[in-house]
Amino acid sequence: MAEKFLIEGGKPLKGIIEVKGAKNAVLKVFIASLLSDEEWVISNVPEIGDVLREIELLKKMGVKIEKKGKDGYKIKAREIKKLELDSDLTHKIRTSIILAGPMLARFGEIKFTYPGGCLIGKRPIDLFLEGLIALGANLKETKEGVYLKTNGLRGNVFVFPQVSVTATECLIMAAVLAKGKTILKNAAMEPEIVSLVEFLNACGAKIKGAGTPIIEIEGVKKIEGGHYITIPDRIEAGTFAILAAASQSEIKIVNCEPKHLEVLWSIFKRIGVKFKLGQDYILIKPVKSLKSLNVVTHEYPGFPTDLQPPLTVLLTQAKGLSLIRETVFEGRLFYTDILNQMGANIIMCDPHRIVVQGPSRLYGRKIFSPDIRAGISLLIAALIAQGKSVIENVEQIDRGYERIEERIKKLGADIKRVSD
Ligand code: EPU
Repeated sequence: MAEKFLIEGGKPLKGIIEVKGAKNAVLKVFIASLLSDEEWVISNVPEIGDVLREIELLKKMGVKIEKKGKDGYKIKAREIKKLELDSDLTHKIRTSIILAGPMLARFGEIKFTYPGGCLIGKRPIDLFLEGLIALGANLKETKEGVYLKTNGLRGNVFVFPQVSVTATECLIMAAVLAKGKTILKNAAMEPEIVSLVEFLNACGAKIKGAGTPIIEIEGVKKIEGGHYITIPDRIEAGTFAILAAASQSEIKIVNCEPKHLEVLWSIFKRIGVKFKLGQDYILIKPVKSLKSLNVVTHEYPGFPTDLQPPLTVLLTQAKGLSLIRETVFEGRLFYTDILNQMGANIIMCDPHRIVVQGPSRLYGRKIFSPDIRAGISLLIAALIAQGKSVIENVEQIDRGYERIEERIKKLGADIKRVSD
């Protein structure tokens, strides 16, 4: 059943909001569990669409997954019933391509149709395939999909021609059980990768260099059982900080890792947001006027593309011209059309660049959310806008943010979820 959010904008917000476990960390740990025949426990798991779909996909392959406590799961991949991924689910969730790494490492083959995900660009899988071939996989590609098979993966040196988060994770997982040493160069450095590697090492893997561009993996014979506690979601924390700044509210964001968002804090300083950082909290204080600035998205530790849409909403409230360059995904600026319909003044120079002229008063309207990060940003826009908004296809927002309406209602937002 399709669901919508009804929002009356312009309500003052105040209070404390808790950050959930990181989507882009936990999705990879569920997949990595295929490397072990022992039980893993994963806790602090956010109840979000992408996680629920991935669990469904793994269960269809024969992985045993059970709920444990409030936000945990027990997972055991002793044997696998199916080496072919469910094509409906693969199409809905892009992380399914990462499965190729552990599946080849432990079971020697995998078949899948081309993965889906967000509508934020072409999202090819060439880096995954080239890397897996370098480690000893044979590839057969057809119009419908991919068949990969190996008689045993072997360590190798692989240089990524371009940085990719999920391809780095996929190759780490492939190399963990390969024979000999693998060196990945120009690897991604995201905190979610560091967290995955720390956990794999605790289960018996031998990986060095995570968090740097060169990762060395010495293949081992076995990955043991273990307990993973999901790190806080830095994108959710940053999004809440931006919501507070955009709505001129005093909001404390707790259970987070402010050190994973250093570039956002330097941007906040430059545009004039007032804030205080603790070890595991962020306190945003209201300010009346903000300054514009130029922003470029970049792989970690640069400014994350996943925070570009919320920051753009904030910059519609800043005085002057801001130039935003989106360098990671070419389809990630089209939502600005909807912001313009709400009253923003944004010019698209080309699919990678926009100029925002602020400040603009925003007005509520009917909104169709194109993808997960644009969805949450349009929600922020609706919260600070004058009047009523309706956000349709909220499943895009539910993919990454657990019961968002209940959590922001506690801050004073006027928001309701309704079914068609
Ligand atoms: N790319 C290729 N070939 C490949 C793989 C990637 O050309 O085989 C390109 C992509 O098209 C893109 C660039 O490389 O232009 C970088 O993309 P990357 O592979 O790093 O992105 P990703 O691994 O698909 C992850 C996150 C994204 C996040 C990006 C960048 C997950 C599940 N997804 O995607 O998160 O935006 O890294 O940090 O970890 C989101 O959560 O909304 C989201 C899209």
